[in-house]
Amino acid sequence: MIKARIVGTGSTTPKRILTNKELEAIVDTSDEWIIRRTGIKERRISSNGQGEDTSEMATTASLKALEMARILPEAIDMIVMGTVTPDRQFPSAACFVQKALKASKAVAFDVSAGCSGFLYGLSIANNAIATGTCKNALVIGAERLSSVTNWEDRSTCVLLGDGAGAVVLTPSIGADGILSTHLQSDGNFWNLLYSYDERSKIPEILDTIEGKPFSLSMEGNKLFKKSVVCLADIAASALENNGLSCNDIKLLVPHQANLRIIKAVAERLKIPMERVYVNIEKYGNTSSATIPIALDEANREGLLKQGDYALLVTFGAGLTWGASVVKWSI
Ligand code: COA
Repeated sequence: MIKARIVGTGSTTPKRILTNKELEAIVDTSDEWIIRRTGIKERRISSNGQGEDTSEMATTASLKALEMARILPEAIDMIVMGTVTPDRQFPSAACFVQKALKASKAVAFDVSAGCSGFLYGLSIANNAIATGTCKNALVIGAERLSSVTNWEDRSTCVLLGDGAGAVVLTPSIGADGILSTHLQSDGNFWNLLYSYDERSKIPEILDTIEGKPFSLSMEGNKLFKKSVVCLADIAASALENNGLSCNDIKLLVPHQANLRIIKAVAERLKIPMERVYVNIEKYGNTSSATIPIALDEANREGLLKQGDYALLVTFGAGLTWGASVVKWSI
């Protein structure tokens, strides 16, 4: 049975660091509250004209992943990009990436699945490779959440950041690769996290951002409780589906929305925090980009070796959630 394996990872984040201290000047919050309630110390914010638009960050991350994979853009058949903040409503941000990479053979499209966009994309590309529809695929998660953040809402603006990550997939006939992907959605809870028509006022210290004509609303507390249950349940089914136990997992790579959510999920799965990848303190929640950025950093730090099992878990607007078990192959 053919499946896909990850042969390259790449990521990028904007240069501009926005610290909790700086946020104290924008909304009624404190560095202490943000760290205690979320684990976030700082986040990265894209600037206009600096190669930090969603598709530009996606292109940078993709080039790094392609370089590691030693695959040329012309050999890519599919570009799937998870994003809720494409450069434009249409065409897709993936098409801008295709143009920038000169990946002329690729079919390119975006996936809208909230913060789960990357895992949804990974599942689509994995299935396309398994069925022989495509050979080499680029799966990206990229966001410019700062452009849809309501900078007057302290309960959301402290959480979000910008960035991009990408992986290159090729066919595997061996034991390594993407062993399974598990996706779920529940539209009944759409109103816990959604966009609404209102361009937010960008604070003076962030005047390098151009806001989009919509903003983001979130019921944090309800989402918090729902996400812990959904993440833990889908991760447990992914393990069971592959006949694995929590002890087999070398690294849990969760969506980075809140350190307390990550700890609660790890505790439910009985995976000690030493085997959980956390970088939320540096980037906050970058939606679709959190998992591919974390995966790239973990890979480059040498935390995953060939044959190790990684468990990816995600949760986001929709509601959407998902998990994937990967036998590492780089
Ligand atoms: N600084 C200071 N106080 C803040 C604050 C901030 N940035 N944001 C909220 N508060 C206040 C609230 O106003 C509230 O005050 P009150 O008790 O006087 O009404 C108090 O802190 C507690 O608010 P609450 O919303 O219950 O806090 P919480 O512990 O749930 O933490 C989140 C808030 C948003 C950090 C947390 O709910 C969360 O991370 N939720 C999940 C987010 C998520 O997963 N989102 C995306 C899915 S991809």
